[in-house]
Amino acid sequence: MLVLGIETSCDETAAAVVEADPTPGTPVGRIRANAIYAQLSEHRPFGGVVPEIAARAHLERIDGMVARALADAGVGFADLDGVAATAGPGLIGGVIVGVMTAKAIALAHDKPFLAVNHLEGHALTTRLVEPVAFPFLLLLVSGGHCQLLAVQGVGRYRRLGTTIDDAVGEAFDKTAKLLGLGFPGGPAVERAARDGDPAKFDLPRPLWRKPGCDFSFSGLKTAVRLAAAGLPKDDPRAIADLAASFQRTVGDILVDRCRHAFDMFRTTCGLPPDTPVPLVVAGGVAANQHLRARLADVAASCGARLVAPPPALCTDNAAMIAWAGIERLRLGLVDGLDVAPRPRWPL
Ligand code: KG4
Ligand code: ZN
Repeated sequence: MLVLGIETSCDETAAAVVEADPTPGTPVGRIRANAIYAQLSEHRPFGGVVPEIAARAHLERIDGMVARALADAGVGFADLDGVAATAGPGLIGGVIVGVMTAKAIALAHDKPFLAVNHLEGHALTTRLVEPVAFPFLLLLVSGGHCQLLAVQGVGRYRRLGTTIDDAVGEAFDKTAKLLGLGFPGGPAVERAARDGDPAKFDLPRPLWRKPGCDFSFSGLKTAVRLAAAGLPKDDPRAIADLAASFQRTVGDILVDRCRHAFDMFRTTCGLPPDTPVPLVVAGGVAANQHLRARLADVAASCGARLVAPPPALCTDNAAMIAWAGIERLRLGLVDGLDVAPRPRWPL
């Protein structure tokens, strides 16, 4: 089974071809092509993603990316078994470009169309590379989301906790901006933090040890802003210390919330208290090596194991959309060409 995936919901214009066995329940696919154009130079002058510019860049690039993905995979439209595109949530101009491109290909070549929820793309990515069975506990940490979910099957998600204010990736991006580390923020903070002292600044951990597993990052963002304002000008040491302290604090928060989530997850899925469950981490922030190490520790201490996709598949890409398309197509979950792109679409 061969599926073309298209991703255009933020600032990556991406197309990929993924191949898999057509039988449901046999996870793990093969990425035949994974073409990504990251719109960094378009957005860098503004210090963040500008929706209008993103939509225009997607429109200019998408045909070329699809052609490249097919060429890299050595296949043509006729070889495809389906065409999948992110249909939301995301910046609507970009989502429209991806959905219309996929629908046009599906219509012209008489192929099934698959409208993929971007979050489902992140949620299922790990099964593209490792045979992780359902149910699993998912920590989804990206630029727009921070959630803990019980993933019981394709299309079967129970939300255990979510952020009550900002997403964790947003906190990384804001911290990078405040520290003058540039765009994109997450990798820049991680790089700066390598040389810093994580114990230098005592930053707040909102909802720390409170029941449940919701998140909050706005108080941390404010504390970073105040601390940044008090730093000596252009002192790389002080910047590294604040970056490291911020990253460690995010790690503390994620670890505390996951600890609570394991119990909620087992109860939700009706599993005995000591069942070893996989903790899957996904989304752009999951590329962070410090956080992956912290999450591996908490998983081990809770009788679980951490499963994380390779960093390149954590940040937005089209292979994850093609793979989610395959998981849906194998179950016959095909969409009509009247499906509308959605700016908001909770899992
Ligand atoms: O999943 P993603 O590529 O796009 C969304 O769906 O939002 O996530 C992007 C987010 C950005 O906020 C970015 O700063 C963050 O993921 N990110 C990181 C790292 N790489 C990307 N955050 C921390 N450490 C990283 N290495
Ligand atoms: Zn994403």
